[in-house]
Amino acid sequence: MKKLKSSSDLENLRKEILSKRDPKKMCITLCSGTGCRAYASEKVNIAFQDEIKKQKLGKEVDIRRTGCHGFCEKGPIVVIYPEEICYLQVKPEDVFDILSQTIKEGKIIERLLYTNPGTGEKIIHESEIPFYKNQKRLVFGNNRKIDPKSIDDYIALNGYTALSKALLELTPEQVIEEVKKANLRGRGGGGFPTGRKWETTRNAPAAPKYVIVNCDEGDPGAYMDRSLMEGNPHSVLEGLVIGAYAIGSHEGFIYVRQEYPLAVENTEIAIKQAEEYGFLGEDILGSGFNFKVKIHRGAGAFVSGESSALVSAIEGKVGEPKPKYIHTAVKGLWNKPTCLNNVETWANVPLIINNGADWYRSMGTEGSKGTKIFSLVGKVNNTGLVEVPMGMTLRSIIYDIGGGIPNGKKFKAIQTGGPSGGCIPEQFLDLPIDFDELTKVGSMMGSGGMIVMDGDTCMVDIARYFTNFLADESCGKCIPCREGLRHMLKILNNITGGKATEEDIKRLEDLTEVVRDGSLCALGGTAPNPVISTLKYFRDEYEAHIKEKRCPALVCKELIIYYIDPEKCQACGLCVKNCPTGAIYGKKKIVHIINQEKCIKCGTCFDVCPDKFSAVLRLSGEPAPPDVPRETRIKSKERR
Ligand SMILES: Cc1cc2nc3c(=O)[nH]c(=O)nc-3n(C[C@H](O)[C@H](O)[C@H](O)COP(=O)(O)O)c2cc1C
Ligand code: SF4
Ligand code: SF4
Ligand code: FES
Repeated sequence: MKKLKSSSDLENLRKEILSKRDPKKMCITLCSGTGCRAYASEKVNIAFQDEIKKQKLGKEVDIRRTGCHGFCEKGPIVVIYPEEICYLQVKPEDVFDILSQTIKEGKIIERLLYTNPGTGEKIIHESEIPFYKNQKRLVFGNNRKIDPKSIDDYIALNGYTALSKALLELTPEQVIEEVKKANLRGRGGGGFPTGRKWETTRNAPAAPKYVIVNCDEGDPGAYMDRSLMEGNPHSVLEGLVIGAYAIGSHEGFIYVRQEYPLAVENTEIAIKQAEEYGFLGEDILGSGFNFKVKIHRGAGAFVSGESSALVSAIEGKVGEPKPKYIHTAVKGLWNKPTCLNNVETWANVPLIINNGADWYRSMGTEGSKGTKIFSLVGKVNNTGLVEVPMGMTLRSIIYDIGGGIPNGKKFKAIQTGGPSGGCIPEQFLDLPIDFDELTKVGSMMGSGGMIVMDGDTCMVDIARYFTNFLADESCGKCIPCREGLRHMLKILNNITGGKATEEDIKRLEDLTEVVRDGSLCALGGTAPNPVISTLKYFRDEYEAHIKEKRCPALVCKELIIYYIDPEKCQACGLCVKNCPTGAIYGKKKIVHIINQEKCIKCGTCFDVCPDKFSAVLRLSGEPAPPDVPRETRIKSKERR
């Protein structure tokens, strides 16, 4: 491949790629992101390849393996273009029918369509499925259309035109001005204005200057950055080269955690292809600008995602945060000016350069522009990655996109912003989501985690869970974070274990202040959020655990007991068969009872007792009623 040397070279290449493609020819796109791979999309791919050969359909249909579509729980996902027919949970056994019925005869296979759980309606087209319909997939949208291993697919969709525009039509200052005007804010958590950061690095006197992509993504449950890096690595690369040009940097690093092998693989391929085409290397697109980039594999600690820790890790040192007397933008890698941005931040840049700051500013709220990708998980019907305009309400995300709470249960809270985000209660369901609004209610945007909780969630247990995670992940460098989090965890364990006193709440509150104010980095600085927010909005739950030794959500093991209601038990024997410790007594036709001494509260009896009986109860804050005498345990029909 001859390197491209001008914008017309790029345009001619794009035309050439498109001229070889027939827009009317059917194309089966098969999601091959990590989520769908876990559901064996590899086997579906092999089945398609074999069956296309067998049925001699090579001329009628193409097959393209794409990145994550977002609706991972319904994977493997197949979308057939140009009609955009969407099939979910496709198995290798379905491939024969898809080819012989849909491709050959144009018939829709009902069983593979999305079924609306509320109405039972079957939906054919991907964009009409409520999960997708209410999203605005600007950054994430091309994931479903391109093969991440093919630079031609990216170019066919106008890929690298923003780079060409930036390098050949704009000065570095104009690029920075455009990004500043767009008011792009960092998607990695802090929401710092990207253009201002670029300007600081550009104006910092030292050289060389570096640029970094932060794809550490250590938040449990979050995989937005992974899916972008895996599914559309060229969009991140293009943003990075534009940023490097604006900043005056000629060398960059992509920091990807080692546990993301597909992201590493696809990024390596993308870099090679970009070098071959002349989007990386010397004299990019004939502009005279040079830039090279390397991948650095991270070892996977949550704290390594913090900017100064990440810089240390790339330098080959332990990935621990450093005091920030001077910002990374001025003194970063090897003490040289370094601009570090999140994956999603970089991927927004080509959109801004191509469409202009005014277009970008037309989406979002006063202080937060554009869209944001969230990882929507927990007690919500549709889970996955969703991209929405800033300012969409929590209610719309949870109900219109997420399809509401499973089994008609009531919404209780949503935790946003990763492990150190806060829990937001029902009263804020109509809150428009943006950087500032989330902070006002005691949470944060973070990198975009969203965990939905229903009435079966204990908020003290949730605070304990996140504090446990953060105490584990603290690098231990500073005492308030290391010791403070451990003490907070101890108190929370005591509360959920029914061993706490009323003074413990005060102690917990004091500790949240010490940890928040005395920690070196934002891990410690934000770690108390789950506790602070649950204490603020769900204090009654803390009090019930402490004063009444009761877990209102019936979650905390030490505070609940399992009890068989003698009126409801039908002596079916299922619980006896399944109890792992032999704690249940009873015979055929004799009501069963649980020996509380032997019960380890695993909840198996509760799970296996048939719904029509629902004889196993969970009680909290009260002792188990005394066992009924043997004669009354015989089922009444028998006694007669
Ligand atoms: C403990 C901790 C972990 C972090 N992890 C990440 C991460 O995985 N990815 C990320 O982009 N930013 C992470 N950040 C934020 C970075 O420090 C930094 O602000 C961000 O990468 C800057 O990019 P942005 O301006 O585009 O958001 C983390 C911060 C802290 C305190
Ligand atoms: S606040 Fe915690 S994670 Fe951050 S440097 Fe201090 S000990 Fe390490
Ligand atoms: S499973 Fe339920 S109904 Fe059956 S014996 Fe156990 S408690 Fe009784
Ligand atoms: S990995 Fe296939 S939809 Fe996410």
